[in-house]
Amino acid sequence: MSADFKKEHINSRFSLMHAGISDDHSFADEVINGLRSEPKKISPKYFYDDNGSDLFEKICATPEYYVTRTEAAILKEHSREIAVANPGKNLVVELGSGSSIKTRYILSAFIRNTSQVTYVPIDVSQILVQSGNALLKEFEGLIVNGIIGEYEQALEIVAEVYKQPKIILFLGSSIGNFDLTYAEEFLKKISACMNKGDSLLIGFDLVKDESVLNAAYNDKQGVTAEFNMNLLRRINNEFEIMLNLNNFEHHAFFNPEKSRVEMHLVSKCDQSFSLNGSGEIKFKKNETIHTENSYKFTEKMISDLASAAGLNLQNSWKDNNNYFNLCLMGK
Ligand SMILES: C[S@@+](CC[C@H](N)C(=O)[O-])C[C@H]1O[C@@H](n2cnc3c(N)ncnc32)[C@H](O)[C@@H]1O
Repeated sequence: MSADFKKEHINSRFSLMHAGISDDHSFADEVINGLRSEPKKISPKYFYDDNGSDLFEKICATPEYYVTRTEAAILKEHSREIAVANPGKNLVVELGSGSSIKTRYILSAFIRNTSQVTYVPIDVSQILVQSGNALLKEFEGLIVNGIIGEYEQALEIVAEVYKQPKIILFLGSSIGNFDLTYAEEFLKKISACMNKGDSLLIGFDLVKDESVLNAAYNDKQGVTAEFNMNLLRRINNEFEIMLNLNNFEHHAFFNPEKSRVEMHLVSKCDQSFSLNGSGEIKFKKNETIHTENSYKFTEKMISDLASAAGLNLQNSWKDNNNYFNLCLMGK
């Protein structure tokens, strides 16, 4: 079956493919279904409208959110080694590329090796257009063929369109947003899109002291709270209603039994509303909408995931605090 996408030519070095993106209709359906389910939940992929993407970048700059700067430091130190371990590859694919800020280390190292690199960032967010343009200004030897859409459809496009050897990046411990069963299934999907000799560079946030985790998702400036609450703002915008944001609050905590940080929106009172004639959606005081999980991994969990997906863990790098593990996997 061939993948379904629309191609948009931006300039001689920048093209975009639009694939399988959730339109307003499926956003509406998923929100209504999620708020009717028990317990209530909404997928974290809906955080990333324009405002949500901006807020995520602000989270990355908070002193408490160690994830981005730790992974960036590992990439800065080891990108050259990663490029050397992947000789002759001139295709870099990135899942959930966001601002592509950390990716610069990898692109720079690969361009040094092969002089011209095609970068295929994949993201549901339009932030990809802005970050693609910024990269083109920075790297003369770069071509950007972005895919705006969801991971799964984008991987099908990658498998169909690109036959040359490649490295796939999945940074920021975004794998931790999937439950562990789907994380394994998702790694299998990535593996299915890889040919022999292709690599996957994937970041895993490690289990650590609870106080560090709780602080990271409850920063003092309240940016993470704002990011979480932005989901309600998006519901207000897209359904053209006026949920009272003051009736909800951000709640994030490490759940040690499940090895994950959970993020919720808590209803501060009994309340009810209707979305697009969905019928009444009722909240009891303290009932929550579960908006995100961020699983925290042990090295055993990582190697089990890799072998379940048929991938070899070829190399891995950690920071001195053992906060984060960047892994190079091969097929
Ligand atoms: C946590 S941010 C990480 C961004 C960047 N990779 C980093 O490490 O800083 C997740 C990114 O993945 C994108 N994203 C989330 N769910 C997605 C999905 N299902 N398909 C494609 N992109 C998705 C978001 O828009 C966002 O840019």
